[in-house]
Amino acid sequence: MNAEVQVDFDLLDQQLRALTGSETDQLANSANFVAMLYDAMPDINWLGIYVLRGDELVLGPFQGKPACVHIPLGQGVCGQAAQQLKTLRIDDVHDFDGHIACDIASNSEIVVPLLLDGQLVGVLDIDSPSKKRFSKRDQSGIEKLCRTFEQSVAQESGLPGNSDSRFI
Ligand code: SME
Repeated sequence: MNAEVQVDFDLLDQQLRALTGSETDQLANSANFVAMLYDAMPDINWLGIYVLRGDELVLGPFQGKPACVHIPLGQGVCGQAAQQLKTLRIDDVHDFDGHIACDIASNSEIVVPLLLDGQLVGVLDIDSPSKKRFSKRDQSGIEKLCRTFEQSVAQESGLPGNSDSRFI
């Protein structure tokens, strides 16, 4: 893949803090987080948040083609990462047992669990048309952005009426 492209994750982190720091609406902050990262990362075809609702992940703010809406915990890369509470960085999704193909263009994927007070609230999912798109450096940069995003979410309350989640 285009290894020469180095995303400036420190700069993105500053931009994310500026975008979400004074805004208290989780949905708006989630949408801006997704849009900012999608715009900044080359060679990706889908990026979005799945929100934990009960024992399944439900499609949230995203950029890219329309995607599958419901992913049970434990299924697909997203459901596995959510269940294991750890980042899954998949060099070739076709080698991943149970991968859920939402966009046939996707060849590699990274999924980072999103936590509030140590509890799963969702995942960030990024797909690329290139195999081995996501490096260890990408993983640590994306994880750092997710930690910043979680901090912004932790200071906000979920949408009124969404009693089963503190998240959107
Ligand atoms: N590939 C994911 C499904 C979500 S889409 O990539 C947007 C998975 O296997 O969980």
